[in-house]
Amino acid sequence: MPDNLIRMAVILADGVGHDVLPVATEVIQAAAGACGVEVKPTVYGYGAQRYLEEGSPLPEDVPGLVQDLASKHDAIFFGSAGVDPRVPKEVNCRPLLRELRRGLDLYVNFRPAPLLDRRFSPLLVDVPVDLVVMRENTEGKISSRGEVFKEGTPDEVTVYDDINTYKGIERICRYSFEYARSHGYPKVSMTDKGGGVGIWYRVFWEVAGKYPDVEAEHIFIDTLCAELLRHPDRYSIIVTNDIFGDILSDLCAGLVGGMGMAASGCIHPGRVCMFEPVHGTAPDICFQDKANPFAAVLTGRILLDTLGHRKASELIWEAVRLAVKEDKLTGDLGGRLGTRAVGDYLVETVEKLAKEGGA
Ligand code: IPM
Ligand code: MG
Repeated sequence: MPDNLIRMAVILADGVGHDVLPVATEVIQAAAGACGVEVKPTVYGYGAQRYLEEGSPLPEDVPGLVQDLASKHDAIFFGSAGVDPRVPKEVNCRPLLRELRRGLDLYVNFRPAPLLDRRFSPLLVDVPVDLVVMRENTEGKISSRGEVFKEGTPDEVTVYDDINTYKGIERICRYSFEYARSHGYPKVSMTDKGGGVGIWYRVFWEVAGKYPDVEAEHIFIDTLCAELLRHPDRYSIIVTNDIFGDILSDLCAGLVGGMGMAASGCIHPGRVCMFEPVHGTAPDICFQDKANPFAAVLTGRILLDTLGHRKASELIWEAVRLAVKEDKLTGDLGGRLGTRAVGDYLVETVEKLAKEGGA
C-alpha cells in the first residue's frame, strides 16, 4: 500500500450503519486529506440493502467474499449487524461480521472508552476516565462452536467449548502492553475468573515480565465491575477474553456516554483490519438522521491510527472534542443536531484545525 492512499471498503450492513458510515467517511477523508493521504471508499450494500435488491443479504461463499475484500482494500469500515426495519428480523449481516473477525484472524478487538465530558457520565465522580478494553477476538466461548444433544426434549443438553490457546493469549497480552507503551497508558489490567490457576494468569504475567516500564495487575471480573463504577480512574487498559470483553466494553461505553460513543477496531498488526462502531443497528432511530455519528467517526480515528496516520487520527480526536465543547451534539448526548449536521461540523473543524496546525 502506498503511504498516501487508503483503499477503504465501506460495508453499510444493517440499520444505522447507513446513517453513520457515509458521514464518518467524509470526516476520515477530510482528516486524511489534510495530511496528504487520499482515502478511496468503495461502498458495499451487503446486508439489508442487498436483500432488498437481490433477495439475500450475503453471497453464499462468505469466507470467499471476506478474502476478496481483504485482497482489494487496505481497510474495511463496517456498519452494524442485526435488525434492519426494512427487512425480516432474521435477515442480517452477522455471518459476515463473524467471518471478517475470524477469517482475517483479527485477534485484537480494541475498544476505547474515553470520557469526553463529565456530563456524559452517569457516575457522580469527578475524575478523568480513559478506559480501553482489549477483547480477544478469535477464541473463547463466543467464537467456539457448540453442540446440542436431544434437542427439543426435556433432556436437552448444550455444550459449548471455551477455547483459550497459549498463542491467542500471548499475542493479545503483548499487543496490550505494546499499545500501553506507544500510546502512553500507565497500566494493563488482566481480568478473568480463573485467577492464579488459569492459563490466562500464567501467560499474562509471562508477557508482563517483558514490559517492566508498564504496570501490570490481575483483577477478577466481578470485582472489576464494581471497581469500575467506584474508581474508573484507577484503570486504563483492560485485557480479557472474548465474552468478558464483550460485556465489559458495553459497561465502559455506558460509563462515558453510551453506545453512541463506542468505537472499535478489529486488528491484526500488519494485515488488512476491520473497523466498526460497537453500537448495534438501532432500528428505532435509523434512517431518521438522529443517530450519533461519534462512534463511527471515532472508529475512523482508530482506522487512521492503526494504518500509521497518527496525525490525521489526532485531527479527528480534536474535532470531536471541539464538537463536545461547542455542543454540536445529537439527542442522545443532550444536543439538538442531526447526524448529518454533526458530520458537517466535524469536516469543517478538521479542515480548520489542519490549517491552523499547518498539517
Ligand atoms: C459486539 C456485538 C457482537 C459480539 C454481536 C453482534 C455478534 O455484541 O460487537 O460486541 O458479540 O461480538
Ligand atoms: Mg457486544
